Parts: sequence; C-alpha cells; structure tokens
Amino acid sequence: MSATPGGGVGFPLARPRRLRRGAPLRRLVADVRLHPADLVLPLFVKEGIDAPAPIASMPGVVQHTRESLRKAAVEAARAGVGGLILFGVPARKDGRGSAADDPSGIVQLALADLVTEIGDDMVIMTDLCLDEYTDHGHCGLLTEDGEVDNDATLARYASIALAQARAGAHVVAPSGMMDGQVGAIRAALDGGGFSHLPVLAYSAKYASAFYGPFRDAAECAPRFGDRAGYQQDPARSVGEALREVALDLAEGADAVMVKPALAYLDVLRAVADAVDVPVAAYQVSGEYAMVEAAAASGWIDRERAITETLIAVRRAGADIILTYWATEAAHRLR
Ligand code: PBG
Repeated sequence: MSATPGGGVGFPLARPRRLRRGAPLRRLVADVRLHPADLVLPLFVKEGIDAPAPIASMPGVVQHTRESLRKAAVEAARAGVGGLILFGVPARKDGRGSAADDPSGIVQLALADLVTEIGDDMVIMTDLCLDEYTDHGHCGLLTEDGEVDNDATLARYASIALAQARAGAHVVAPSGMMDGQVGAIRAALDGGGFSHLPVLAYSAKYASAFYGPFRDAAECAPRFGDRAGYQQDPARSVGEALREVALDLAEGADAVMVKPALAYLDVLRAVADAVDVPVAAYQVSGEYAMVEAAAASGWIDRERAITETLIAVRRAGADIILTYWATEAAHRLR
C-alpha cells in the first residue's frame, strides 16, 4: 500500500463514506429535496362516461368523470400537491378540434368544477393543444395534403387559450410545438382581458416513444404519420432546446418545460442553467408505465424507483415536476 498524502501509510485521508454512515447523517447532508408544493398532477376527464375508466397502460391512472375528477383533485390538494394539469377527452372529435374551445366542452366544464372546488388551494393548469380533440389525432389543423398547418393552427390555439381562461384556468400550458404559439396565445390573452394569466410553455418537447400510454389515456394517437414534423428530434444536441426556450421567453412565456424528463436530464440541466424563470419537467406516461410494469413483475422496488426518478429530475434542475405519482409522492413526503 502506498502512503496517502497527509495520512498514515495505508489510511485514506479523505473518506467520503463517513457522511454516509446512518440515515440521520445522510438526511442531514442531503441537499436535493422534493416538496409536495412543487408537484403537478396530470388528470384526464372524459365526456360521456358514468364511471372512471382505467387506462390499461397506466395502472392506477384513470379517465375521470367530472365527479371522480373533483374527488381526485381534492385528494391531491389535501396531500399538498401544488398543481393540477387537466386534459379533456371529448365524446366527439372533428378535423378542427371544435370541442377544445367550446365553452360547454368537457374540459371547460371540468375546469370550472375544479376552480370552484379547490381553486384557492392549488394551481389549476390546462394542457393547450388540439390532439385530444381532433379526429386525426394531430396537434394542429391539417392542410389538404395532410400536413400540419402551423399558422392556421395558431389561430385555434389563441381561441382555446381564451376558452380555457374564461373557464377559470390559472395557467395555460401550450404543448403543440407550433412555431410562434406562445406569442399567439399571449396576444390573445392580453387582448381578451387576461394579461395576468401565466403561460407555461412546453418549450423543449421531443418526439418521444415515452408518450405511448398517454395516447391511450387521451385517445389521441395520430391516425396517420407521427409528430416528428413538429416535436424535436431526440438526436439533436441541447442547443436546439435552448433556442426553443429562448424563442418562447421572447414571445412572453412565464415558465418553461422540458419533456420527457428522464431521458432528457441533460437538456433539463442546460435549460435550468440558462434561464431564470421557473423550469418544469414532465415525467411522462411512458416513464410512469415503465416503473409500474417493472415493479408489478417484481423486478424493481416501486417506491424507491419512484423517489429516485423524482430526485433525479429535481437534481437536474426542475423547479416544478409534473408526475402521475404526485398525490402518492406528496403523501410520502409529508
Ligand atoms: C399533447 C401532449 C402529449 C402529452 C402531453 N401533452 C402527447 C404528445 O405530445 O404526443 C404527453 C404526456 C405523457 O405522455 O404523459 N397534447
């Protein structure tokens, strides 16, 4: 054995293990912490069902009725969860996603319920997109050639933003990845008397296999093609994400999001270092399904895996974490 600088022969001077001896010491030195108030629970509400409908690929997650949605929201609020993000699944879909901005559409009605029920206790957000509402399942209007028409879609997003604002949304979160969407929504909100309403932009959103289960939950798998023409390519370096973030901020975004979370922790860290607005990360449906499936097979420890992934997302720089485990995690943190 060699002599250690400053120490005796064979004795390491530095022993990082000293601070790992025993849970109290580990707790004392831990500096990455989760708090229920930073968690956001995504919820699905479906029109025309009279009981909650389980989502096969997301065990434990359901499509809610308006009634069960209210209960889930109250439970989350009691657990201290900071926010909800609402997705609507209308009974009827069409080419222009008419239900998305219909004042009596399911998402507007359910939103108003939530605002009445728990609006003083937590932040109620809405996903602002068209894919849950279009019969073709794309996030925008289509041209005659079946391409997503960026600029025509912006007008729809502007109208949806106003419908959601009028129904009481506290924050709108555009997720469609159209160029200029934040600016169009900001202008519509400002012009409509909602200059106080924040926009949480899904800024760096990748074309990801991890959205698979969500498409069951929101019944929005594209009928043809995929979303690679508008969502980001996983094979591009973080520079593109930083550009998307900068554009969204220039257009008036109040907070930005990286999505998915676990496979994009490098992007999350880069964004968190680059901006001084709140940064959210979305632990998406496939991340949830992966852990639940492995745990159901007895292959991993479910609770530890959940906590570890949430800690990883926090460590990478997320101020806000959207997760289907929000209520459960909040209970455990208390
Ligand atoms: C688009 C939207 C999607 C998700 C959130 N908002 C689907 C998509 O972009 O294809 C995915 C969320 C998840 O997988 O949990 N409205």
